[in-house]
Order: sequence, then C-alpha cells, then structure tokens
Amino acid sequence: MNKAAPEIERILYTEEQVSQRIAEVAAEISERYRGRELRLIGVLKGSVFFLTALARKIEVPVKIDFLSISSFSTKPSAPGVVRIAKDLDDTIEGEDVLLVEDIVDTGFTARYLLQTLAARGPNTLALCTLLDRTSRRIVQIPVEFRCFEIPDRFVIGCGLDYKQLYRNLGYIAVMKPERNH
Ligand code: IMP
Ligand code: MG
Repeated sequence: MNKAAPEIERILYTEEQVSQRIAEVAAEISERYRGRELRLIGVLKGSVFFLTALARKIEVPVKIDFLSISSFSTKPSAPGVVRIAKDLDDTIEGEDVLLVEDIVDTGFTARYLLQTLAARGPNTLALCTLLDRTSRRIVQIPVEFRCFEIPDRFVIGCGLDYKQLYRNLGYIAVMKPERNH
C-alpha cells in the first residue's frame, strides 16, 4: 500500500516518463508554431501542472491565461452541462490559441470550450491534452496534441484529482475501485 495515497492501485506513468513525453509534445508544438506567438489557455484547476511544465519546454514566445468551468448534470447518468465560472482575463481575437486540458474523456467539456473560444475570433485554435481516453468519447473533437492515451480507469496525479486531492503528484496513477480504499 502506498502510504501517501492508499487509494493508488498502480503507477501508470512515472514522473520521468511524464516529463520526457511533455518535452516531446512541446517540441511538436514549437515546430508547428515556429515564427509565431502562442496563447496557452489552461482550464483550472486540473491543467495547471501540465500547462506550466509544457510552457517551460515550448520554444516560441507564449502568453498564458486561465478559465474555470463548472459542470453539473440534471441526472447522475446524464452528461454534464458546462458553463464558464471564471473567464479569461484577455481577448484572444487574432491570436494563435492552444487550449490545454488535463484529460479529454467524453469530450463534452472540450467541445464546449472549443466552441466558446472559436466564437471569439482567434487566428487559429487547437487542443492539447495530457491524457486522452478515447474509449469513453461521446462527442468527436479534434485533439491535435496528446501526451498519453489511457485505459478506461480513473486516474490521479499531474493535476488530476480525486475529491480535490492528489493533483500535486508528479506521476499518473490508477485509482483502486472506490470500494477497496
Ligand atoms: P469530459 O467532459 O467527459 O471530457 O470530462 C473531462 C473532465 O472530467 C476532466 O477535465 C476532468 O476534470 C474530469 N475527469 C475525467 N476523467 C478523470 C479521471 O480519470 N481523473 C480525474 N478527473 C477526471
Ligand atoms: Mg478538467
């Protein structure tokens, strides 16, 4: 049992594997946006750790901004309705914008955010996610940059939480099924 986090079943990606992969994706991004300036938009709070690690490895000039969302659903099984709880500080009109997510699961959150940001007239808009769980996708959205495709298990670490805990873990871990904690 892991004393720091008894809910952990196993580590999926170590801290070294995560930073190695982030560096590779940052290199792809630097190549794609060479000669331009990039606006990174993070979704609070999950993408903060990934966004800062990524930004430090990107070699084109970057500006950063954050928004936060709240999602709620009318029925426990229904997909959540998403709305912006804290908006960006700045406009993004005419900018090259990269939305940075911790995980794309059903795709509802990312679709809502991409539509909302697209309506503000950026020059380009793309999505970069640390984790992608395509097996659970309900709405199809374009994911231009992804670090890891993960299995259909709940994960924590690198910004991802369980009841607001474990965001600060440097690695990505699979949670034990809830009844076994
Ligand atoms: P989507 O709208 O279904 O794509 O939901 C994505 C959001 O659900 C993410 O931004 C996370 O906040 C949360 N989420 C989905 N899967 C996990 C997980 O395995 N661990 C922690 N949070 C998750
Ligand atoms: Mg999130």
